[in-house]
Amino acid sequence: MSADIPVSSAELTRAAELVAAARRGVAFTGAGVSAESGIRTFRGEGGLWRQYDPYKVASIEGFRSDPAVYWGVAREGWRMYRKAEPNPGHRALAALEEAGHLVGVITQNTDGLHRDAGTRKLIELHGNGRTVRCLDCGATEPRADIQARLERELPPRCRVCGGMHVKPDVVFFGEALPSAAMMEAFRMARECDLMLVVGSSLQVYPAADVPEVAADRNVPLVIVNDEPTPLDVAATVVVRGRAGEALPEIARRAAGA
Ligand code: OAD
Repeated sequence: MSADIPVSSAELTRAAELVAAARRGVAFTGAGVSAESGIRTFRGEGGLWRQYDPYKVASIEGFRSDPAVYWGVAREGWRMYRKAEPNPGHRALAALEEAGHLVGVITQNTDGLHRDAGTRKLIELHGNGRTVRCLDCGATEPRADIQARLERELPPRCRVCGGMHVKPDVVFFGEALPSAAMMEAFRMARECDLMLVVGSSLQVYPAADVPEVAADRNVPLVIVNDEPTPLDVAATVVVRGRAGEALPEIARRAAGA
């Protein structure tokens, strides 16, 4: 579901006022911010987890017992990731950092598009899928290099030790989140003067704890999402719509405020 955004809506204006007043704002993003770049979300209409069982495809237990299941799905998924470019939503967040309203972005996404859009301070809670790592010897290589091998080798073997457990540098179900990233994300949530949540169903923990920390401190909470989220009840303003349309509009109005 993607609602149309009334361009002059009171919600956009209120969101822009809050963003304009922020000096230590933090954005917390999920798959929805990359949907307009052509990357599938996990939940909701067209979501990956409607087609695949996440525990079979993206759990560390499943991966260790049969890495070919993950790589069979990832071989197809890469075709969409490879072509993806930042959309106006990613760029608006980078512009808000540049303008001094946001100190950075905390993302659950592993696609690297915030960095491509120019976000300088980026916390990737679930890792980054552009690198793969051998679980046996630790050797790394670019994800792009694996794609050609996948056509003839499933699962792909480590080029250094021949091991079968070459895994993208992303957090699978059953794995701990990177502790430095988690600590920094919670520090930012404790110190921010605005929390801007974009394109996340807020159903996956511990990541979803991060915006809740800010909400508990009663700093302004702005949610931009095309469907309701569990945190809407605590939000100062909810903008129901697409990130790629709403965020540039919020940034434009904040610049004029
Ligand atoms: P989800 O797929 O759970 O949620 C995406 C949210 O974005 C949904 O609420 C959509 O309605 C909304 N949405 C879709 N398109 C949008 C658009 N153009 N503009 C605004 N909102 C839009 O994604 P996440 O919350 O990121 O974990 O999922 C969290 C984690 O679950 C992921 O990081 C991944 C997954 O399993 C790991 O890989 C460990």
